[in-house]
Amino acid sequence: MYILKVDPSKPEHKKIRIAANALRHGLLVAFPTETVYGLGANALDRFAVNKIFEAKGRPTSDPLIVHLADKTWLPRVTSHTSPIVDSLAEAFWPGPLTLILPKRNEIPDLVTAGRNTVAVRVPSHPIALALIKEAGVLVAAPSANRFGYTSPTKASHVLSDLSEQIDVLLDGGETLIGIESTVLDITGSKPVILRPGGVTCEQLSRIIGDVSVQNLTSSEEILQKSPGLMLKHYSPRANLIFVIDSLKERALAYLRQIAEEEINAGRSVGVLMVEEDLDVFIGLPVQVASLGTKNDMLGVAHNLYGGLRELDSRNVEIILARDLGDRGLGLALRDRLKRAATKTIWRTESN
Ligand code: TXA
Ligand code: MG
Repeated sequence: MYILKVDPSKPEHKKIRIAANALRHGLLVAFPTETVYGLGANALDRFAVNKIFEAKGRPTSDPLIVHLADKTWLPRVTSHTSPIVDSLAEAFWPGPLTLILPKRNEIPDLVTAGRNTVAVRVPSHPIALALIKEAGVLVAAPSANRFGYTSPTKASHVLSDLSEQIDVLLDGGETLIGIESTVLDITGSKPVILRPGGVTCEQLSRIIGDVSVQNLTSSEEILQKSPGLMLKHYSPRANLIFVIDSLKERALAYLRQIAEEEINAGRSVGVLMVEEDLDVFIGLPVQVASLGTKNDMLGVAHNLYGGLRELDSRNVEIILARDLGDRGLGLALRDRLKRAATKTIWRTESN
């Protein structure tokens, strides 16, 4: 495998060319995007795409996102045009928004899991853009982690999951946003967010008006709409307990109580939390991973997966985390933590 360190602000052309050639020759290339690292292959080469599924241990029922260098490539994946696609592309591309569109026949069934729709996005990371442009091919790329495990936000995460399977790894340092793109389905009568992510609901509403969010709890329906959104996903090895309570003090008191119980039962406990909560666990023998301040939700998102991996590497058996609300990036954070959790506890006035 080639591991090439690339300057994220000014990607060296020589290195990009090596990775682009690898893509054109049907090899697998891991590269940074502004969200998480992707594991890329030429989307029109089904043998190459098949290697993605094998490398990740991902079921072929879970479709991939096709990455474009810019929106002028759209006609290569879809013959659909509409004012809503134009305005969304104008507002959010390049960036962390994935659109579900009717697909062209040329897109292999393997990429779309046999659906007649395809997921597309134009990433904004300079390395991703330079790579796709230089390769000149559509790039199918899921997150570069083993299926079901926490997504990679730096090259070392990719290496620890997939070092045997990758041909080229472009190491561009840490990704900025740290959680995946928002997946927006615009093939129905109204736009629906299938997966909250880097572009917030509020941002989308400003451009296209009302947007609904796929109900995150009805699993059967989600599996049909978007099979990748299975409930257990993004998970650390440890058991994650996630507490959702609109009253912060009550959530923290409850988490402390769980921590004490687990410690008394002889288990090692890690907590993933914002700086503002750090003092709650003082005096308890817990491992702490900080998400930074809750006043910087982009920073919190950036630290999320790294924090989970960090606690895993410290061999804790239980990880505790609390919800930070559903505004802005909070919604995507809640979604990821719920899917990563072994147990989500909703606390309301009645309990
Ligand atoms: O930020 C991201 O989106 C990253 C970077 C690498 O671009 N990619 C990523 O890919 O998160 P992946 O494969 O981990 O997630 C793709 C999601 C899955 O939930 C999948 O089910 C959904 O998009 N998806 C893909 N094609 C779809 C389709 N035709 N209809 C509905 N959902 C689809
Ligand atoms: Mg993924």
